[in-house]
Amino acid sequence: MGLPAESVISAYRNSKVLVTGGLGFIGSNLALRLARAGARVTVVDSAVPGCGANEHNIAAAGGDVRIIIADIAAAASFAAEIRGCSVIFNLAGEVSHIHSMRRPCRDAALNATAQLRFLEECVRQAPGVRVVYASTRQIYGAPKYLPVDERHPIQPVDFNGIHKYAATAYHLLWSSMGRIDGRVLCLTNVYGPRMALHLTCQGFLGNFVRRALLRQPIEVFGDGRQLRDPVYVDDAVDAFLLAGASQAAQSRLWNVGGGGTLRLAQIASIISAAVGIADPVFRPFPEEQRGIDIGSYSSDSTLIRTELGWQPAVAFEQGIRQTLEYFQRERLHYLRDEDWKPECALQEVPVLGRSVPAA
Ligand SMILES: NC(=O)c1ccc[n+]([C@@H]2O[C@H](COP(=O)([O-])OP(=O)(O)OC[C@H]3O[C@@H](n4cnc5c(N)ncnc54)[C@H](O)[C@@H]3O)[C@@H](O)[C@H]2O)c1
Repeated sequence: MGLPAESVISAYRNSKVLVTGGLGFIGSNLALRLARAGARVTVVDSAVPGCGANEHNIAAAGGDVRIIIADIAAAASFAAEIRGCSVIFNLAGEVSHIHSMRRPCRDAALNATAQLRFLEECVRQAPGVRVVYASTRQIYGAPKYLPVDERHPIQPVDFNGIHKYAATAYHLLWSSMGRIDGRVLCLTNVYGPRMALHLTCQGFLGNFVRRALLRQPIEVFGDGRQLRDPVYVDDAVDAFLLAGASQAAQSRLWNVGGGGTLRLAQIASIISAAVGIADPVFRPFPEEQRGIDIGSYSSDSTLIRTELGWQPAVAFEQGIRQTLEYFQRERLHYLRDEDWKPECALQEVPVLGRSVPAA
């Protein structure tokens, strides 16, 4: 399978859709794709410091995508955007596991409390509305077996995994009560155009790509034998489109993995070779990362393949080439000197109207 069938794409023509987190990496790719399909797209994003919001991400829409800068926790302020939506794609969130360990309350505010408040407003404004939520493989923690299917125990090893699971459970609970029509995608590592390359704490793929573009040897933590199954962002977007368009889904939660399982050393070598830089170097895990490392991971995406007809179409070598080409072209919007910070600045975010004290 390549792109979702024309019938899936055409389901979105003229339909009103909301994309939360739509200035970020995956959300912007999804918003652009929906706009190209003829949907009436509104993006809501709070542009929270430390996450991947970048207005350039949706520049290609040329004004076809409406942007609202707002926190989804304050969804009452954009209630009219929720009413009448065919599908809400809910991608707002904080990705960084390290940020979540440094500021657990900040992560809870962004990934759990804001989600609960947003869903309450969805239930009020659009009872039964379809909401497709971007969850994560991180809810499964260090795998007990590979590949990881949807029956794997939930055993997160960091606050991000705990709070993302809380939000996953909110979607499933409201759905079982018939208040929303929730669908959850547990994404593996996603890569592609529009990643927030200036953030150092958003995972290894952004760091590998940034170092390649800066022509610095890629640093791999550990011995490089850890397995991952990166999924190209266009394939992830296809999974969202299919989950949002399916009328009678049998399941509510699906794992979304990449087409191939690779060792971190292989991933680093492929990226290095694509730009012609020196071989990767191997470093011991920094203390902060050792504690939350999950070892090897790969997804079993059988369920989404059999139920929704999704499977990844882009091989890693091809996806990484497209990613590097995008950033070589658009570099100034992603690797500006003024954006570059060796540490991500984390600001407090309000929880239930109060500011969260520094961790
Ligand atoms: N990138 C990955 O590999 C990956 C893997 C698994 C799951 N996910 C999930 O996919 C979603 C999107 O990830 P991404 O990589 O595009 O991250 P990103 O940081 O690029 O985008 C997330 C966006 O959400 C916005 N946001 C955060 N909290 C918000 C709030 N309360 N209200 C409004 N906007 C808010 C941020 O400003 C940002 O623009 C996240 O929920 C993430 O947990 C991503």
